[in-house]
Amino acid sequence: MGNVYVFDHPLIQHKLTYIRDKNTGTKEFRELVDEVSTLMAYEITRDMPLQDVTVETPVATAKCKVLSGKKLGLVPILRAGLGMVDGILKLIPAAKVGHMGLYRDPDTLEPVHYYSKMPTDIGERDLIVIDPMLATGGSASEAIRSLKELGAKSIKLMCLIAAPPGIERVRKDHGDVDIYVAAVDEKLDEKSYIIPGLGDAGDRLFGTK
Ligand code: URA
Repeated sequence: MGNVYVFDHPLIQHKLTYIRDKNTGTKEFRELVDEVSTLMAYEITRDMPLQDVTVETPVATAKCKVLSGKKLGLVPILRAGLGMVDGILKLIPAAKVGHMGLYRDPDTLEPVHYYSKMPTDIGERDLIVIDPMLATGGSASEAIRSLKELGAKSIKLMCLIAAPPGIERVRKDHGDVDIYVAAVDEKLDEKSYIIPGLGDAGDRLFGTK
């Protein structure tokens, strides 16, 4: 069963409070999501492998470490996932970015693919699927399923806020996928919004309604 990691760093929690606040406008919301994404990327990359190197300092030879070159890939689920990409790329600029567009069919409520463009070598990359709001888990689970179908072998899921049903769904469908969140909220309402949540992440990021 995959693990759930809640990033309770004070800076993440502080910024998340203002992200939740309905009085936070689009510009500030976007900036805060960007900052939290960078902080979360710092935590999520803790297990990146290192290799030994030596460098010449001005006065001696130093035994040091550098990242061992494991390839990363970010896969934001459109459209709200886009709001977290730049913040992560600030720390991992070499990561490739695949885009996955999913919408929920209004009749069946099942996720439907409308766009997908992935790096060709996703089977060799550690992928981070990005979905700010893990509500029912339907989109995230389908995104992970289709990435596995395309050959992905290593996948993490990164969200701002998760609700218990979304966590349960992803853990049930994909026991090999760890979930990284800034907060786990109480529940979903009748329209599958996370309560207390932050409202519609896409609308708040892009100033739509
Ligand atoms: N998507 C959102 O943007 N917000 C929610 O609360 C749930 C899903």
